Amino acid sequence: MVQLNIEKTFGFITKESVNAYEADVMAAQEALEKGTRPGNDFLGWLHLPSSITKEHLNDLKATAQTLRENCEVVVVAGIGGSYLGARAVIEALSNSFAWLQEQKDGPVILYAGHNIGEDYLYELTQYLKGKKFGVINISKSGTTTETALAFRLLKKQCEDQRGKEMARKVIVAVTDARKGAARVTADNEGYKSFIIPDNVGGRFSVLTPVGLLPIAVAGYDIEKLVAGAAAMEKCCGADVPFAENPAAIYAATRNELYRQGKKIEILVNFNPKLHYVSEWWKQLYGESEGKDNKGIFPAAVDFSTDLHSMGQWIQEGERTIYETVISVEHPNHRLEVPTDAENLDGLNFLAGKHVDEVNKMAELGTQLAHVDGGVPNMRIVIPTLNEESIGGLLYFFEKACGISGYLLGVNPFNQPGVEAYKKNMFALLNKPGYEAESKAIQARL
Ligand code: PA5
Repeated sequence: MVQLNIEKTFGFITKESVNAYEADVMAAQEALEKGTRPGNDFLGWLHLPSSITKEHLNDLKATAQTLRENCEVVVVAGIGGSYLGARAVIEALSNSFAWLQEQKDGPVILYAGHNIGEDYLYELTQYLKGKKFGVINISKSGTTTETALAFRLLKKQCEDQRGKEMARKVIVAVTDARKGAARVTADNEGYKSFIIPDNVGGRFSVLTPVGLLPIAVAGYDIEKLVAGAAAMEKCCGADVPFAENPAAIYAATRNELYRQGKKIEILVNFNPKLHYVSEWWKQLYGESEGKDNKGIFPAAVDFSTDLHSMGQWIQEGERTIYETVISVEHPNHRLEVPTDAENLDGLNFLAGKHVDEVNKMAELGTQLAHVDGGVPNMRIVIPTLNEESIGGLLYFFEKACGISGYLLGVNPFNQPGVEAYKKNMFALLNKPGYEAESKAIQARL
């Protein structure tokens, strides 16, 4: 389902050097299975796809249906791991212009709580005026400022516009079972709520209600998504031989490239619908590996758009990069280039081809050019943009990330560095409990 090709890294690294990781990869896989390395309390994602029950999916689908029936718009409030997975899947599967179409298949999905932009939030609240909207409030800690702030605004507006009773029906919480303000609010208000398992960290939570509920509300088949992930769980299992395990090979190859000075991985797509898959991937790898003064810097580009912006740097800039291309084998639609009698634009050489044939040649041409320019290239092929493929792709990246982090020698499941900015922000805002920090930071200004 997810095919990985690393041929175009050879010449920069050798096949033998990748194969030399076999023992370490097997050890990393065993550590994940047995929970014997740091971060072992956050391994709930590992066999999540194969353990999700039909009852759980039905519960999610029933709640999604309530929101679909009662809302023109659903705002998904969350940040980081509590936001990117849902958006990645929804945007990959959605019609790019769905939001502009008069006849809608379901509620428009909007996002909040992932920034503190006053204009963004103002414009959102303006847009929601007079609309039948609902909110999915997603926060594992239940205390994240960005999300809590947006939710406070949305909750009030929803209650004011729709009344307390309807608000109770169309506000859903996805949070911890016991702790945090989001849990307290949900219990006090009587919202329907879903639990984020203790042992699944934010960036690995797309297959928990964090991702599954918004995806179901958007109208996508979460059973197929989970089935795709479960199939990949098998393909990437600890019992699969190294050479046949795409997650193992990807993890080994990127670590070898890193050791050879390729410090930046650029995730490339040739399909604009994958933009947020890249955003999700950046968080997954950035937050998992960027610690102890180590870690590949995960970057991403959308081609061919960015061939006209970042293409120059990639072709001829500092040679510290490699690319991983996600290639979608078959588009979901066909659009042929028409013949033009006058041929003023000189494009008749493309007439009769469908657009994806042109795109695939852009992809191949770019790969060859970049390899010639000194950029190793890996290629991940998925059959098409549907629930199964995307589910498989997400699980593939998660599994490879766990292995890769252990190969790098870090704990891939914590994120201590994320706290630093929060501490300063709370001190600057005089949050109760931060009196000493407030004093110290004011003295620095
Ligand atoms: O991956 C992570 O753990 C983070 O990105 C969190 O998901 C993010 O900080 C949001 O946290 P919370 O769900 O507690 O609001």
